Amino acid sequence: MDCAHAKCVALTFDDGPGPYTAKLLDILAARHVRATFFLVGTNARAYPKLVRRERAEGHVVANHSWDHADLRRRSAAGVRSELARTQRAIERAGGGTPTLMRPPYGSTNGTVASVARGLGLAQILWTVDPLDWKDRNTALVTKRVVRGARPGYIILSHDIHRTTVNAVPAIIARLKAKGYVFVTVPELFSGHLKPGHKYFKRPR
Ligand code: NI
Repeated sequence: MDCAHAKCVALTFDDGPGPYTAKLLDILAARHVRATFFLVGTNARAYPKLVRRERAEGHVVANHSWDHADLRRRSAAGVRSELARTQRAIERAGGGTPTLMRPPYGSTNGTVASVARGLGLAQILWTVDPLDWKDRNTALVTKRVVRGARPGYIILSHDIHRTTVNAVPAIIARLKAKGYVFVTVPELFSGHLKPGHKYFKRPR
């Protein structure tokens, strides 16, 4: 997929795996859509089969800290512990070694960038935030994602919320109808992601 010419968007799902992740994976598989999952280490440890399944089904498994920490408030050693422990939990579960991280709350600074660089992790932020953690409303989340999408954008959402998972079929159908194709974050950037650097969308 050449996202320089196609209308690409990247669906991303944070904070899992959780009780609704298996249903989400069924929805994505039935529609041949691949996504990017930013996992919290404690949940990777709790749901190793889902971590393995995400990877086996072609999704990208990435790092979202051990316990959803505000990394800007941690020392370099604290940030390193948050990220390295999560790398190990994902590896142990069979999810491979992540090359992407997303700082919880988008909270990052030079220390986070430097630790991420050392661990080989690019920082992935987002361009569309449907506030699905706040408004547990499937129709509203669907509308915000569909209205907010533009080519090259990264869409933030959370697979730990049932209402979000229930929005995914309509999000995919409506964006497909507008000509969008769904890619993983590395595909969106044609693989050109530098460790430590921050990415919000594909530049046009
Ligand atoms: Ni999060």
